[in-house]
Amino acid sequence: MSNHEIGPHVRGESLFIGDLPDPPGLLHAAVLAAKVAHGHIVRLDTTPAAGLDGVHCILTAADIPGENQIGGIVQDEPLLAEGEVHFIGQPIAVVVAETAQQARAGAAQIALETDEIPGVFDPREAAAAGNLLVPSRTLSLGDVDATWKACHTVVEGRADSAGQEHLYLETQTALVIPQEGDRLRILSSTQAPTAVQRITARVLGLPMNAIEVDVTRLGGAFGGKEDQATPWAVIAALAARALKRPIRMELSRHEDMVMTGKRHPYSSDFKIGLDEDGTILAYEATYYQNGGAAADLSPAILERSLLHSNGSYFVPNIRVTALSCRTNLPPFTAFRGFGAPQSMFVLESAISSAAEALGIDRSVIQKRNLLSEGDTFPYGMRAQQGHARRAWSEIEQRFDLPGLQNEVDAFNRNHTLVKRGIALMPVCFGISFTSTFLNQAAALVHIYTDGSVSVSTGAVEMGQGVNAKIVGVAAHTLGILRDRVSIETTNTLRVANTSPTAASSGADMNGRAAEIACRALLDRLKAVAADLLGVRGDRITITGGAIEVKGKAVELTWEKLVSEAYLRRVSLSAQAHYATPKIHYDRETESGEPFAYHVFGTALVETTVDGLRGTYTIDRVRVVHDAGRSLNPLVDMGQLEGGLVQGIGWMTVEELLYDGGRNLTDTLSTYKVPDILSVPEIEGHFLEDADNPAAVMKSKAIGEPPLMYGIGAYFALLDALRAFRPDRRPFFNAPMTPERVLMHLHGDRCDEDEIDMEEADSIVQR
Ligand code: MOS
Repeated sequence: MSNHEIGPHVRGESLFIGDLPDPPGLLHAAVLAAKVAHGHIVRLDTTPAAGLDGVHCILTAADIPGENQIGGIVQDEPLLAEGEVHFIGQPIAVVVAETAQQARAGAAQIALETDEIPGVFDPREAAAAGNLLVPSRTLSLGDVDATWKACHTVVEGRADSAGQEHLYLETQTALVIPQEGDRLRILSSTQAPTAVQRITARVLGLPMNAIEVDVTRLGGAFGGKEDQATPWAVIAALAARALKRPIRMELSRHEDMVMTGKRHPYSSDFKIGLDEDGTILAYEATYYQNGGAAADLSPAILERSLLHSNGSYFVPNIRVTALSCRTNLPPFTAFRGFGAPQSMFVLESAISSAAEALGIDRSVIQKRNLLSEGDTFPYGMRAQQGHARRAWSEIEQRFDLPGLQNEVDAFNRNHTLVKRGIALMPVCFGISFTSTFLNQAAALVHIYTDGSVSVSTGAVEMGQGVNAKIVGVAAHTLGILRDRVSIETTNTLRVANTSPTAASSGADMNGRAAEIACRALLDRLKAVAADLLGVRGDRITITGGAIEVKGKAVELTWEKLVSEAYLRRVSLSAQAHYATPKIHYDRETESGEPFAYHVFGTALVETTVDGLRGTYTIDRVRVVHDAGRSLNPLVDMGQLEGGLVQGIGWMTVEELLYDGGRNLTDTLSTYKVPDILSVPEIEGHFLEDADNPAAVMKSKAIGEPPLMYGIGAYFALLDALRAFRPDRRPFFNAPMTPERVLMHLHGDRCDEDEIDMEEADSIVQR
């Protein structure tokens, strides 16, 4: 069924954890979470909950048989709080009951008293107090200090970008079923089955081979289930182990929004120096990453911010410093782009400031400084393809940029209450995990005696279409039709030591592993065919399930060949491992080749702003994107469109607000995401003749890069605002909500502009 996800999804037949029938004896778990952002637990009395209807047991840190520790990169995060709490929503106790309602009612009855102590919520304040999750890091190339005086123009400024809620459709969930002895079977909605297995083993004090994690598919993830699916699975496992009963743990939407981490807010300072024609000579930035209360994936996200500090541009002298700041908020975590969108926003802000100072269009600076073949990245790697410039030129040629600019200028001359704006947004994104060891994957392929094929890999299907891609790779490699291949669940018993499906590299690495396994099987089958047909193996090809000798069809079929191989006792199973070659990185010198390759592209974003209301539409986005030789153009176009809209949401309407440690936007009535009506007209084109030698079947990864096209929406809006108020300096504080638009246009005066009533009417009717 997972071969063709679209049909079953549309018909509602695809099974998610919440759709699975309840196993006999099932109980439900719910957590009691901290209600203050920072405090000492002075009383935790579970007895009022213990007597309630349906409640089976209540578990606290004292009931953990192994280590109360779920930290991955840094071991700084308890599963259940002990002594102190560090953020609102931090799990303290688990109530297990007959129904989820009873479990939640039980959690509400636990007597919890916390002595509140002052919290820190601002990353700059945390940094000033020395409150860092890991030591700061600095990446540099060239000599920034010596270059400032050679610059014609130097500008400094500050850029802030807020967090972002993942809003996967399926909330965090797990179902744990005890097996014989101590063994547990865990169904988890996770991007990282091995992390769930490893952390469950650690917390329960069991060996990893006692824990099976099985993942069919996720209802969305976007990075939010890379690390943060784990605690809920572990909590369910803890209860299952204690009670020897199956346990379901599922967060409500509200719990999920309160308790789980989101995209990191960043506050940054920048300084950029250019010559008079807009060539960037030097760039310096400091990123204050709001990491939340525990490290989670923050150090890796910080690293990716540094590695994308130059965006799509060649910057000969650069020095960027990143600080991961500990605050009393739920640990911020992976989110599509993984720190790169934040640092790219800072550079685009610096370019806008510079354009303002030089009195030229920002696109002049952008185009002049695009990476060319052979240019050096700040970490010493060289750009391998000239696709940054290719994508930009193709945008110019396809879409008549000067014509569009004239049209927008004319519109803006003729309208006083409505203005249009445009912006270009080039993207360059490095593909591979920056932690080199994670760049490995494995596959297990079986051919059954009827010729059907079963493929297991470490890749997790989360709606991104990785299964469809791997089916394509396996069918193409074996030379059979796609409907002969099925993709199995991601299961730690079949494929061990999996890297998370993340870093856009799921199809790249697991597809390659599947390809290697299929090639081994093909070689064995060809040897059998050669013997049967009395020809040399290299004369035989298999295409679409037909066997050919020197291009001519023969009577032997795929099915007959497979069954003959079986009778001859040839193994019809193969396991393969793939490790991305060549990549390396030295964190001491902050240099190396951390990426297998880069993905490039450019977006052209158009917007219209209503200057009376502050509201706007993102009208149209046209993209030229480098997908290599796309493994599946339909899937890739879906990822391009989805990523783009998610990026636009982050930059425009999605506003995550906190009052101290309290998330004020923890419901769907207070947190706005783009809806179908706000989606712009999108026209995506893939670069042609862009074969990528560094990935499976010459493809390129797709998952994260398109999100960063959304940054263009912010600068298109600024462009429209400048048409209203050329006297005002641009500001860099995302998201650009309608309120911020209004404040920028009318912040200190609302009375002077003459209002053209005829035009005002036409807007009202719009
Ligand atoms: Mo992804 S943000 O690398 O899970």
